[in-house]
Amino acid sequence: MCGIVGYIGHREAYPIILKGLKRLEYRGYDSAGIALYDGTDIKLSKTKGKVSDLETRLENEISTHGSLGIGHTRWATHGVPNDINSHPHYSNSGDLVIIHNGIIENYESLKKELIKRGYNFKSDTDTEVLVNLIEDVKKNENIKLGKAVQIALNQVVGAYAIAVFDKNKPNEIVVARLGSPLAIGIGEDEFFIASDASPFIEYTKNAIYLEDEEMAIVRRNKGVKIRKIKDDSLVDPYVQALQLNLEQIEKGGYEHFMLKEIYEQPSAILDTFRGRLLSNEGIIKMAGVEDNMKKFLNAHRIIVVACGTSWHAGLVSEYIFEDLARIPVEVEYASEFRYRNPVITENDVVIAISQSGETADTLAAIKLAKSKGAFVFGVCNVVGSSIARETHAGAYTHAGPEIGVASTKAFTTQITVLTLIALRLARAKGTISSSDYRHHLIELELIPEKVKKALESDAYVKSIAAIYKDVHNFLYLGRGYNFPVALEGALKLKEISYIHAEGYPAAEMKHGPIALIDENMPIVVIATKKGHYEKVVSNIQEIKSRKGKIIGIVTEGDKQVKGLADHVIEVPETIESLTPLLTTIPLQLLSYHIALMLGKNVDQPRNLAKAVTVE
Ligand code: G6P
Repeated sequence: MCGIVGYIGHREAYPIILKGLKRLEYRGYDSAGIALYDGTDIKLSKTKGKVSDLETRLENEISTHGSLGIGHTRWATHGVPNDINSHPHYSNSGDLVIIHNGIIENYESLKKELIKRGYNFKSDTDTEVLVNLIEDVKKNENIKLGKAVQIALNQVVGAYAIAVFDKNKPNEIVVARLGSPLAIGIGEDEFFIASDASPFIEYTKNAIYLEDEEMAIVRRNKGVKIRKIKDDSLVDPYVQALQLNLEQIEKGGYEHFMLKEIYEQPSAILDTFRGRLLSNEGIIKMAGVEDNMKKFLNAHRIIVVACGTSWHAGLVSEYIFEDLARIPVEVEYASEFRYRNPVITENDVVIAISQSGETADTLAAIKLAKSKGAFVFGVCNVVGSSIARETHAGAYTHAGPEIGVASTKAFTTQITVLTLIALRLARAKGTISSSDYRHHLIELELIPEKVKKALESDAYVKSIAAIYKDVHNFLYLGRGYNFPVALEGALKLKEISYIHAEGYPAAEMKHGPIALIDENMPIVVIATKKGHYEKVVSNIQEIKSRKGKIIGIVTEGDKQVKGLADHVIEVPETIESLTPLLTTIPLQLLSYHIALMLGKNVDQPRNLAKAVTVE
């Protein structure tokens, strides 16, 4: 987690870094800091709180002049969020200053050694250990900063994206990465450094993404030299043309990124199947699947690994793959899978799902599966992310940047990609009839319009939010394809409103949660016409007889649930396997409105971060 930004060039660095940090706040927002070189010395300011707190403080505290600088927005790992633990960190001499995203696992033993050698530490962070280790190497060996960084990093165990500069050499910034992302924007006689390209998108469309175990020396007016950290070999820089545009990373008139992203779902889903779903010809084209069709067809099972919302999309895919393609599926929390000594064989296909493509546990699960010979397929949103690169093949979701910490369009586009894959495999295996297959393609093509329709419930959902915003507990129930949607609905509410919520398979309610039900308990029940409708109606009756308040998510025109529930929110009709793409919409809106009414920070909920790059 954490976001890092740096600039070296001919402009004032401060406004670029400040704006960049605001764009990277989705990566962490418990403290922030900036260090600038003003022509004679380093000016550093940092504070607990958000980038806006830093902004207020900084302008009164230090001169913001200078054309070289680095900045950081933090999600605490080592050391509580406070001013001292915030980045940047100085070395003991005050010559070097560093920002870091990641964890130095062996920092305690390194710290002990450095203390023996006379170093002292102000903060509790692993990062301050690293900058002093660099300083120690630099002094002892009397070498340049770049070399010292390289030697120090070879002693480090852990993950990092760092940027460091020396006030005595104010024409270069040294950066390096292992496990945490780092992009270098290449402008005209100016360079930008950031965790992703969003901080520099208005200045340049050319960027180099450092690979793991690479470092770069970024020199004013000279350019970028990249080396392998381990063997010192030079690497030819690969400059990519960025597809991102400014509009995609701004709120575009919406009050929050989350709301914008909820409303973007019709176009995001369309972008996901554009060029892949050719319903007239009855074809699904996905290069990553076609090129590896043998692997998929010979698979004894599919193991899905993911975390958070992506894990919920994985659960939906379990139903689709088993139902349509008749391939057994196991869906695993990446964090459990990686430490469980799981049975993996060369006949397994592992599908790793990740919006950011940077989640540490998912990445580790992929590496484990690869080491056991499994074929690993990635479903990621962020192009060029670590997971996209680490997997053998994959399919991007093409949802566009998702900035709200609570994931919305990533979920529906992941389900879309997974549905396409399942349909393609079902066709290849002959487990679906051609008419059923065609029907699925046609229905999938209609989904963006139906999502638009589902969004029309917004005002009504808002009125329901107003009724229940002050309760302390919520229950979400669903069956079959909509059981994972119940889990996702509950997660959304927890994440941004801090109301306790549980998702349950509707029939399991009888084995525990039913004890919680009384007249104060709202229960969201997904009861669409397709899929165990009558059974869910019975569950609704069980709730009703215990006086629970029922919010039903139903198919347009439904009468039965309407007669029983306190409120019903309609979604358009579709085939059962596609219902999650519609039923999830009102649940996203419900959590959004409740959080907003409670005055919570919708886009940056407490304690969370968008990309969890630590275990
Ligand atoms: C964090 C985010 C969640 C996300 C999860 C997995 O917890 O706050 O929204 O679902 O990580 O992230 P990924 O990028 O791998 O999908």
